[in-house]
Parts: sequence; C-alpha cells; structure tokens
Amino acid sequence: MSKPVPLIVGAGVAGLWAAWRLATEGRESLLLTKGTLSDSATAWAQGGIAVALGPGDSPAQHAKDTLAAGDGLSDPEAVDILVNEGPERIRELLALGAAFDRAEDGRLRFGLEAAHTRARILHADGDRTGAMLVRCLTAVVRHLPQITLLEHSEVRRLVSEGDRVVGAIVLDSSGRPHGIPASAVVLATGGVGQLFEVTTNPLGATGDGWALAHEVGAELRDLEFLQFHPTALKLTGVNPAPLISEAVRGAGALLVDSSGRRFTLDADARGELGPRDVVARAVAEADAAGGAFLDARALTDFATQFPGIHAMLRGAGLDPARDLLPVATALHYAMGGVSTDLDGHTSRAGLWAAGEVACTGVHGANRLASNSLLEGLVFSDRVAREVAGERDSVRIPERLATVDADADTGVDAAYAAVRQEMREIMTRGVGVVRTEASLADAQAGLTRLELATPATAWRTRRQLSVAQLITRSARGRRESRGGHRRADFPPRPARQPL
Ligand code: SIN
Repeated sequence: MSKPVPLIVGAGVAGLWAAWRLATEGRESLLLTKGTLSDSATAWAQGGIAVALGPGDSPAQHAKDTLAAGDGLSDPEAVDILVNEGPERIRELLALGAAFDRAEDGRLRFGLEAAHTRARILHADGDRTGAMLVRCLTAVVRHLPQITLLEHSEVRRLVSEGDRVVGAIVLDSSGRPHGIPASAVVLATGGVGQLFEVTTNPLGATGDGWALAHEVGAELRDLEFLQFHPTALKLTGVNPAPLISEAVRGAGALLVDSSGRRFTLDADARGELGPRDVVARAVAEADAAGGAFLDARALTDFATQFPGIHAMLRGAGLDPARDLLPVATALHYAMGGVSTDLDGHTSRAGLWAAGEVACTGVHGANRLASNSLLEGLVFSDRVAREVAGERDSVRIPERLATVDADADTGVDAAYAAVRQEMREIMTRGVGVVRTEASLADAQAGLTRLELATPATAWRTRRQLSVAQLITRSARGRRESRGGHRRADFPPRPARQPL
C-alpha cells in the first residue's frame, strides 16, 4: 500500500464491519488487532442482537425501551439511528451468510430479554451469537483484497500533526515499532473489563482505546457508567469469568440465596428479569451475605437451548439439571467512552471511534441488553461511510518516525502485581456500589501505584491512567443513576415497570 489508508484498531464487530463497509465503498484499510480475530469481546458474546424486526415490534418501541434503560441520559437522536438503521444492517448481515437461529417454519426466531417489551433478540446456535458473527465477518474480510489484516499488533501511540491524528506507532509481534501513516484512525478496541478483578471481558479489554484517545486530547465522557452482569459463574482464579447469559433467566431460571429464597423480588417486581443494574446489586448483596445461586433445574432443555453454557458448566463440574449454580457480579460493559458525534467522529480530527470504546449516547446511563452488537454494526457503518467520503481531502505525512522509547522492552511483565492490585482497588472502590469514601480510597490507591510504576511499563501505566479517569468520573457524579450507584446519594424514585 503506497498511499495512507484508514487504520482500524480492533477486530470485534465494529472493526470488522467498518473494514467491510470501507471495502464495499471501494476503499482499502488496515485492520489491526492485538490478538487474533477470535479474541474480541464480540467473539465471546452469548447474548444476541436486538433488532425491531419481529412480529408486533417497531423501531419506535425499540427506541422507547432503549431510552427507558438509559435512565434519562440516552441521546434520542442516537437511539433513533440505532433502531431505524439496525434492521437494514441485519438484512445485510443475513445476505453475508449470518446464520441466526430460526423457527421450524424457517422464520427468524426472536427471543425476549430483560427490559425489552417485545421479543426482538436474534441469537445464533443458542448462546454462541458472537462466535457466529465473527466467523461470518472474518470469512468475508479475509477474502477481500482491499483489507490488510495485522494480527498480534498493538498500537503504542497515536501520532498527531497539528490538530489532526495522522497515524500510529504500531508494535509488531516481536515488539518492534513501525510508523503507520493513516488517512483516518478508527478506534474499535472494545472495553475496560480487565481493569476490574472479575469481568466477562476478554484479556485484551484493557481500555487501550480510551487511553490512546485521551493521550491525544480527545474527549471522553460518561466513564462512570459501567454495567455489571449479575450472573457470571463464581469460580476463583478464572479470568475472564464465564458468563451465564441473561437468556437463561429469560427461559425461567431463578436466583436464590443460600437459604433458597428468591431475593431479587425484594428489589424489583420483575424479579430475575428486572433491570440489569438492579439485579446485579441484589446478587452482590446476596453473594456478600452467604451466596447467590442460579437455579436452572426446572429448564428441561438446557443443553439444547444453551449448548455453550452447558459445556462450560460441565467443564466446571456442574450439572444445571442437578446443581445450584454459584454466581457473582462481573464487570461486563462500559456505557461511556470516547465521545463521538452521530457519525463516529471524536473531538480530534482524523480520529473516529465505534463499538464499546465509543460513547455515541445510545446507552446513556445503562445499556439495554443485546443493544451493543447492534450499536457496533450501525455506528461502525456510519464511521466507514464518513471516512470513505473523506477521500483524498487530507494531507498525511508519508512517513512517521519512531523513537527509542517506542520499542517494547517487556518491562510490564514485572508489574503484574501492580495490575492485580489495581483490579482489586477498582472492584472494591468503583464497583457495583460506590461511596465518596470508596472512590477517594481508590484514587489514593491508584496514585500510589502510578508513583511506583515507571513510564517504561507503559501498558501498566496506561491501565492505571484509565482506572483513574473512571474513578474521577465516578467521584464527580454525585447522584445514583443507571449503572452508577452511589450509596451516599439515594436513588431517585423507582423506575416504573416498562
Ligand atoms: C447476556 O447474554 O446476558 C449478555 C448479553 C448482553 O450483555 O447484551
């Protein structure tokens, strides 16, 4: 490739789709990932894609549910785009060969999940939606000559010239830095789960995109809104924590405490299918008081409905037909992120963001289940169309120089204990329920760790800096709302059942 092309960082649904869309617009791109194409959070997604295509559903109803979940902070315009452009993106996916589950008559099967008022969730192979999506899109992008794939490559830093991001310094698999000029940089790096002790996010979800954007002065917002999933399987020392999809509760599994009591009904009349933040807090309390368990024994077709989860449970020595399943909360999704407009533009020229790394305003204070894959598709599509439209209008340097400090010297390996302590601090201080005191303690602890970590351990420093940004945002929001619960600020009156 002689002329600079768009550089897409991250290969989950948003990155893959952006590369595909650019190719359909006749544009080349470079698609880069730290791991392989199967390591993204998308690939792990059990839950499906919400889309208003089912009987009795409409984009307006989907928008209503999304806005209700967002607890007053979703941007109605962004939500409008999500629900109205979503159906077309799903039709395109189907045309590319996406094999969503179908009923016996061949029609798409739509499932129901918490806080959705209609059955509108598409799944694949029961609980392996993400794996199917990645398989489908990977097969497509691997064969398109316009897309150059760089696996095992990591962005060391973004490079700006004047006000514009003009490329990145990228480390190859042996840690050697290369300057890559880019006509646009699209961040699609996913979330921040690995900054917490227990998370459903893959090992690569270390907040890279937030750090890279922050380093070049791009605006970040709503970082305090983090979604904790109520039902990760409680297993010590397993990272990521195995998820037991909300769909299992949708199919009738109950949450009980150590005395067998259905404790979620105390928190919300909808019980196990109440809003995710409400159920997560109830699970965290029950867990702290002696244990929280998912009782799926009444589900007669568990293995066929949830083959992936069934296999995971059997691997852990549990039989859902016989055993209560110990569960705990786990950091699952970041609603905030790199602030973008409705076309995925960040506040820095040349820099774009899509997927979990971005904050488009769709999710507000809380994300409606299964809206994230759809958001990744819809907004990466808009990013790609915009980037394609920028053709030849910007001047990008032909070469980007690296400096000695860019090379990876492997110093981070010696700071695993610092990262572990950071994860404990974040879980304790910035977890499911926060207070002024817990947040102040977290900030102090993170500052101590920063002082003890040299700049050469840049991955560790980067994670600490993102952890600080989250903590500062959480300290700044002096109210309880959506995924941000402050015990020292009472919640507003309970949300009405949808
Ligand atoms: C789940 O299957 O419970 C997770 C789905 C989601 O987070 O949207």
